[in-house]
Amino acid sequence: MGLGTPVAMDTAAFDAIMAAVDSPLVVVTAAAGEQRGGCVAGFHTQCGLDPPRYAVWLSKANLTYRVALFASHLAVHLLDARDHDLAELFGGTTGDDVDKFARCDWTLGPAGVPLLDRCASVLVLQRTATCDTGDDHVCFIGAPVDARHQPGLRPFHLSDAADIEPGHAAEERPQDLDLRTELAAPPPQ
Ligand SMILES: Cc1cc2nc3c(=O)[nH]c(=O)nc-3n(C[C@H](O)[C@H](O)[C@H](O)COP(=O)(O)O)c2cc1C
Repeated sequence: MGLGTPVAMDTAAFDAIMAAVDSPLVVVTAAAGEQRGGCVAGFHTQCGLDPPRYAVWLSKANLTYRVALFASHLAVHLLDARDHDLAELFGGTTGDDVDKFARCDWTLGPAGVPLLDRCASVLVLQRTATCDTGDDHVCFIGAPVDARHQPGLRPFHLSDAADIEPGHAAEERPQDLDLRTELAAPPPQ
């Protein structure tokens, strides 16, 4: 039986609750062939205990989503309160226009996933499932295969990013993309 069409509601109250939650922000990175992607994400959470699982939701508008579709691993980097510049680079610009990885220090992680040198707290996920509900974000679930954490992290929250305009609005949807051709193309300089 279908669950029916949700009724309209007060989105201002929803927005206010989300602002009160004030999620810590992460940077999700992925690699497929020569192509690398990375974007800020506020939609992420642990979603399994035994075995442990972690989920991130990526916007269909983002280059990172298109790269992640072809990646076996994702890295989830916790941003620190001092990382506004990284949040601006990965959340306020798109890899469709700029090579973000030429503008920050990173090293190769498991299965080629880029690890941002600045972020001392990072989870590497091996993808186990993907869930596309037909909405604007797709859920990527993974098993943690590596985790590094340095005590003393002061998380960078949604409210700390109020001045950052996302590189892609969630309602943007690339049309008629040939993903395999795109991923074979050299990344932007
Ligand atoms: C505060 C904030 C939260 C965001 N949360 C998400 C998110 O949960 N998932 C997502 O895919 N994009 C999210 N974005 C948007 C991307 O980070 C942004 O559009 C980025 O520029 C996309 O880069 P890309 O095209 O190189 O992947 C967020 C942006 C900001 C500023």
